[in-house]
Amino acid sequence: MSDQTLQNRIVKLAKSLRGEISVPGDKSISHRSIMLGSLAEGTTRVSGFLMGEDNLSTWKAFESMGVAICQTGPDALEIEGVGLDGLVEPGDVLDCGNSGTTMRLMSGLMAGQNFFSVLTGDKYLRQRPMKRVVTPLVAMGARIWGRDGGKRAPLAIQGGSLKSISYASPVASAQVKSAVLFAGLSVEGETTVTEPHLSRDHSERMLTCFGADVRPFEDGVSLKGRPRLFAQEVMVPGDISSAAFFMVAGLVTPGAELMIRNVGINPTRSGIIDILIAMGGALELHDIREQSGEPVADILVRHSRLKGIEISGDMIPRAIDELPVISVAAALAEGTTTIRDAEELRVKETDRIAAMVSELDKLGGRVEARPDGMSITGVEKFNGGTVSSHGDHRIAMSMAIAALSATGAVTIEDAACTETSFPGFWDLLDKIRGLS
Ligand code: S3P
Repeated sequence: MSDQTLQNRIVKLAKSLRGEISVPGDKSISHRSIMLGSLAEGTTRVSGFLMGEDNLSTWKAFESMGVAICQTGPDALEIEGVGLDGLVEPGDVLDCGNSGTTMRLMSGLMAGQNFFSVLTGDKYLRQRPMKRVVTPLVAMGARIWGRDGGKRAPLAIQGGSLKSISYASPVASAQVKSAVLFAGLSVEGETTVTEPHLSRDHSERMLTCFGADVRPFEDGVSLKGRPRLFAQEVMVPGDISSAAFFMVAGLVTPGAELMIRNVGINPTRSGIIDILIAMGGALELHDIREQSGEPVADILVRHSRLKGIEISGDMIPRAIDELPVISVAAALAEGTTTIRDAEELRVKETDRIAAMVSELDKLGGRVEARPDGMSITGVEKFNGGTVSSHGDHRIAMSMAIAALSATGAVTIEDAACTETSFPGFWDLLDKIRGLS
């Protein structure tokens, strides 16, 4: 993140990668466990919670609205739910840090609360588009102000009673869908959201586990308002977006064999698996099981010769956060990979199209930007050099994986941002290389 000490990391060519690892808990599910645990009646126990900076922002925000949250283990929490109407007005501005999920989902929740709140974030989050949640929430009757006519944070929200709507979202965005559904929790009647392609459905799954009446249909979902939510035991699976870095590392490193245990493989998130298999990757799913309403598996990865493919359409929301590291795999694959329909990458923590094109280029990668994606032609190996994270955790980690296939050392500048979603990333990388 921008507002912390800058830190550089040097990563060198990997000779081999072997072992059995697990990755920290899913970021999206961890956020939602705090949000729904807070609104439920009773004590919600969460295990596998991601103690990353983004999730800590959500944790602090709910504490400042009167929710008691207690850490009971290295990745375990207990949340004393206050019920649907039990949150209290925060005495200060809520700082969402770098977390778009915190800001957008909480906007929906805050819109239906009988109090005033202000949501802000770091310099990256304050540049990201907020109109996409403000528009449907205002249509529900919310009063929201933001910079640039409500387009950007800080957002000031005077919550109150809302009306239910049926909203056709122009973007496939789980954050938009969840903001509207969370606002719909406070409303008598049914709230419906449709989207051009199905985005991740963790909110719908968790709301169902907590007792809400949620009905998914072909291109959308409906929620019956004013449910009673009941505390749950939530077991958060490992984050497929974090596992993605090690999947690609295993595929591109000669002789590699990695077993990644306990990874969430929700079909709205598992595009990376389908994409890497289509590229010729040897990935196997073992012991597929269900945990707290989410499918989970162990993933075995072996070094493979990859080939270029076309990635577009409904595959994009299923792999949106993994596209930076997929671009690294593509930059080492035989032939050309084209990523289309992925303009959403331009409004993530940074413009991830521009960032990957510029940083892979510094290492000799052959990547061209398209307005809606990238065109990538594979090379045998990258060169050494110095690259920037652009303050974006997924860019930092993608470039670390690229560095494993570089002939010279790669310095990654401003690498501390990995703490946003993956505390322990650098140690895990050392471990599978036999360096620690
Ligand atoms: C998230 C949804 C996605 C994703 C983000 C987390 C969520 O964003 O990129 O990292 O937890 O709902 P969009 O909903 O904007 O696509």
